Amino acid sequence: MIQVQHISRTYLMGMVEVQALQEVSFTIAPGEFVGITGASGSGKSTLLHIIGLLDSPSSGSLIINGEDINSLNEDQKTEFRLQNLGYIFQDYALVPELSVQENVYLPAKARGMGRDEYLQKSAEILTRVGLGHRIFHRPFELSGGEQQRVAIARALINTPMILFADEPCANLDSKTSRIILELLKQLNEAYGQTIIMVTHEEWHEEYMCRMIVLADGAVSDQRECHRNLTNHT
Ligand SMILES: Nc1ncnc2c1ncn2[C@@H]1O[C@H](COP(=O)(O)OP(=O)(O)OP(=O)(O)O)[C@@H](O)[C@H]1O
Ligand SMILES: [Mg+2]
Repeated sequence: MIQVQHISRTYLMGMVEVQALQEVSFTIAPGEFVGITGASGSGKSTLLHIIGLLDSPSSGSLIINGEDINSLNEDQKTEFRLQNLGYIFQDYALVPELSVQENVYLPAKARGMGRDEYLQKSAEILTRVGLGHRIFHRPFELSGGEQQRVAIARALINTPMILFADEPCANLDSKTSRIILELLKQLNEAYGQTIIMVTHEEWHEEYMCRMIVLADGAVSDQRECHRNLTNHT
């Protein structure tokens, strides 16, 4: 369970204060696939970064599975991220010098997984996302959709409890976007992972349980979507 309580985020730009988020509150149930949408500049990425522990709120609290994140120091936050969270970015953020497989096992290596295990696990996950035949390739040899699937595999290697995605389909055509969304939906259903995804596209709702709409840094609407929450208990 993720509890976002009265979270505000102010950026200081010289003498000017930019209020990116103001008093945002909602909860997300385990295993939910939730979208965050809203106009450009409405605070979507800021909110995702805060829930993903990549940024801290100016005020308010974030509680994940009963753990008050504000009370953790930086080392504990890093540990929490490695143990529990996975990220998918709009621009894939793959390391060009590394092979597909090396990109995928990097977070597992960082977490201290043994070599045999991370080699085997990364190959397995790449097969699951349909790229078992591409593991020794470099990212630039792949299409955009394939690169995003590598990024998804990388986000999954440590079997995170929560997966964050910031407009993962922004650079993809609608057919490739559907492949990515279908994959996320399958992972959500099969493993009960909580997924929080920022999107601009209304049709993405058909893959989600709920959509949270931001306007000027505040929640302006929340609507149930087409899917029901899969019960994993
Ligand atoms: N590092 C920063 N320093 C100053 N202002 C920032 C910073 N990051 C974001 N902002 C401001 O905070 C507001 C929200 O930005 P944010 O990136 O969260 O919007 P967004 O909804 O993700 O937009 P987009 O759809 O364009 O990605 C904007 O007004 C933005 O200019
Ligand atoms: Mg953004």
